[in-house]
Amino acid sequence: MSDQHQLHIVGISGSLRKESYNTKLLQSASELLPPFVTYTAADISQLPLYNQDLENEVPSAVLQLVDLAKSADAFIFTTPEFNFTISAALKNAFEWLSRSMFGSPLARKPAAIAGATLGAYGTAKAQVHLRDILHGLDMRPVSRPEVLVSFAAQKFSPEGKITDEVTRDFLKQLMDNLVQWTIQLKNLKI
Ligand SMILES: Cc1cc2nc3c(=O)[nH]c(=O)nc-3n(C[C@H](O)[C@H](O)[C@H](O)COP(=O)(O)O)c2cc1C
Repeated sequence: MSDQHQLHIVGISGSLRKESYNTKLLQSASELLPPFVTYTAADISQLPLYNQDLENEVPSAVLQLVDLAKSADAFIFTTPEFNFTISAALKNAFEWLSRSMFGSPLARKPAAIAGATLGAYGTAKAQVHLRDILHGLDMRPVSRPEVLVSFAAQKFSPEGKITDEVTRDFLKQLMDNLVQWTIQLKNLKI
């Protein structure tokens, strides 16, 4: 793929925590993308809670996120599992990005999903919900591999790099599949 055909991928971590494993997972995923992909991490920490009244004077954090999402060819979402589902922070970002007044900047775009937990189930339940939400948003998620990072505290170095080879291999495969799928969809122009 030549430079003229660069892809832009935007990543959103559903955790706002400074030392978040999901933010580390997202950063690690972005480092596995091929060189012709440009990558930007979105900041959802400043978004107000979705409230339709705010649409009369849209907050600048929302406008910034919308602009970034519009420029994306594809997305990577990482999410913690909070009470068996995705984080409220990520759901809130979806509320804003789903609005047709912004041109529904997620609709029909590819996405890869992954998640990390401290416990044994690696966000399995949250990811089922996330896939359902992406379906509602008319996105085109990659279905395999499922990247469920369990016991996350044992799988990252203090600098935030993945130390577990199997996890890194799954993440690399997910990034390769996302890029291939994005190229296919762009060529199909659907
Ligand atoms: C409010 C709350 C609810 C949680 N619920 C779950 C859960 O349902 N399943 C799970 O595996 N871990 C749960 N956890 C533990 C998270 O997996 C853990 O806090 C993880 O580190 C959060 O991701 P982060 O490191 O990206 O912030 C919960 C944690 C919190 C604070």
